[in-house]
Amino acid sequence: MKNSVIIILLSIFSISCSAQKSIDKLDNFEKISWQELNDNVIRMIGKDWMLVAAGTEDDYNMMTASWGTLGWLWERPVSTIYVRPQRHTHNYTEREEYYTLTFYDDPDKEALRLMGTVSGKDFDKMNYEGLTPVVTPNGSIAFEEAYLIIECKKLYSTVL
Ligand SMILES: Cc1cc2nc3c(=O)[nH]c(=O)nc-3n(C[C@H](O)[C@H](O)[C@H](O)COP(=O)(O)O)c2cc1C
Repeated sequence: MKNSVIIILLSIFSISCSAQKSIDKLDNFEKISWQELNDNVIRMIGKDWMLVAAGTEDDYNMMTASWGTLGWLWERPVSTIYVRPQRHTHNYTEREEYYTLTFYDDPDKEALRLMGTVSGKDFDKMNYEGLTPVVTPNGSIAFEEAYLIIECKKLYSTVL
């Protein structure tokens, strides 16, 4: 099995939000530092799941992920994600300098289930109505419905 491992700088760029839909998208988000993350990140990633998204406003893709970590490496806060090379998202995480991790309150996980079962190769994820894209300050893509966005700068990527 070949997995791509991407270790990134968390870029001290966590954003929390009120999860309200609005045209002024990022205005709904408050910038916080990683020190303010008090949640159980093992549960958030492994049980509640997250979206990994990368790309630009005109061309991006996202997928559900439950493999990953948030931690500390090289004197920095880092995340590690595992994106199989066959995922459409892999093309984007490999190409782009930044990617986002987004976390949701929805107990039904409707959007997460869909983004984890269909591929951007076959399905127009950019026009999926259940997720409203927002552009982060570094030009990557996150979603307004999230309660937490972590924007990550890629530090290292490899294929196992
Ligand atoms: C709960 C859940 C967790 C998943 N976690 C991962 C993961 O961490 N890494 C991965 O490569 N695929 C994972 N997947 C599978 C991808 O989300 C799925 O193959 C998706 O359709 C890929 O979309 P894409 O081809 O548009 O990138 C997960 C799927 C689900 C439902």
